[in-house]
Amino acid sequence: MNRIDAPKGVKEYLPPESATFLAVRDALSAPAIAAGYGYVELPTFEHTELFVRGVGESTDVVSKEMYTFDDRGGRSMSLRPEGTAGVMRAVIEHGLDRGALPIKLWYAGPFFRGESPQLGRYRQFFQVGVEAIGVDDPALDAEVITIGDDGFRSLGLTDFTLEITSLGDAKCRPVYRQKLIAFLDTLDLDEATRARAQVNPLRVLDDKRTEVRRQLAGAPLMVDHLCAECADHFAAVRAYLDALRVHYTLNPHLVRGLDYYTKTTFEFVHHGLGSQSGIGGGGRYDGLMGELGGQALSGIGFGLGIDRTVLACHAEGRVVGVAPRVSVFFVPLGDAARVESIATMGKLRRAGVHADLAYGTIGLKGAMKAADRSGATYAVVIGDRDLQAGVAQVKDLMSGEQSAVALTDLVATLKEKFL
Ligand code: HAM
Repeated sequence: MNRIDAPKGVKEYLPPESATFLAVRDALSAPAIAAGYGYVELPTFEHTELFVRGVGESTDVVSKEMYTFDDRGGRSMSLRPEGTAGVMRAVIEHGLDRGALPIKLWYAGPFFRGESPQLGRYRQFFQVGVEAIGVDDPALDAEVITIGDDGFRSLGLTDFTLEITSLGDAKCRPVYRQKLIAFLDTLDLDEATRARAQVNPLRVLDDKRTEVRRQLAGAPLMVDHLCAECADHFAAVRAYLDALRVHYTLNPHLVRGLDYYTKTTFEFVHHGLGSQSGIGGGGRYDGLMGELGGQALSGIGFGLGIDRTVLACHAEGRVVGVAPRVSVFFVPLGDAARVESIATMGKLRRAGVHADLAYGTIGLKGAMKAADRSGATYAVVIGDRDLQAGVAQVKDLMSGEQSAVALTDLVATLKEKFL
């Protein structure tokens, strides 16, 4: 029979690396939990329309990368390429916006984008995200950014930069956009770039080609064209970040791949990851709720890439998350001893001691090898003769020392060693 492999470009985590994955996921979410964010578990597929309206039809994410299919009822569905649109949909659908504001939510899970795979860029990848909805307070922007920064730092990561900028709002951005289009019109650009300049001129600012970069040197920048309200907002965000001692770099060229952003936007860029260096990013999206049929509430959030953060930990030599090992390994020799071992192991596990047993018929030698491989501190060997004597042989697998312990005392003795 042919072997069936996983689809191209999906990332999987197996032991022992999966321990790092879990530790990274938990470390990135801990600061959100500590700041009062509540967990949401949302569907991995939604009506395609949600992403078309929410993320933006002209974005690469929606126009080129979505996994879209008709469900059995002929409705167009898409695997979620990101989390914000789904959170907004849930907030509106369940009326969370009629309760106390801000609504603070976090999530973690898989997301799907049909990009060309490479190290750090996958078709199924994982994010931890937060969204804070309903209060347009620059202190909330600073809170969200700090949660991201704290998450990375709690993993011991230091070789990254937090880049921030402001993209303005519905008042000042259209004015700036026209100015930028007029500027781009004067440049010597190829046809495709010219077309892009008409649809999304801001994205041209992100062009990586040197001949384009050179011409962009004198381009007007959004940060220099913010209206008074947006400029004040951005200044306040920076002041709060300073107060929180969160270091950032102003990057007026910062362009995000999703259309909903307004005002504060940011990205965490790691310096040890090559081209897929964005380990997290986010920003404000003040028009999004209204766009999705809800009240006109503001919002800010981020998505942190778990996969890239795992790579960043490797790049910085941070050992994060150790695969859990059992403490006690049972080696029963004979059928009656096996029943006794299984019963004792059950009691130990329920008491909170991690324990495993030599399954199958592998003999004493094989079973002791399995005990060593398990990383357990103690092996508990029970033979039929031990059983008759009412004892078990408890062997310290490091020192090799062995002692007989009465079966009646076994659970209490082992519990004492570990709890
Ligand atoms: P995003 O920048 O598209 O933002 O994704 C966030 C993070 O997910 C990226 O910084 C990166 O670490 C990771 N990521 C994205 N695509 C891939 C991929 N193909 N393979 C591996 N990792 C990837 C968002 O998704 C927004 N929803 C964030 C947000 C929340 N903004 C406001 N609220």
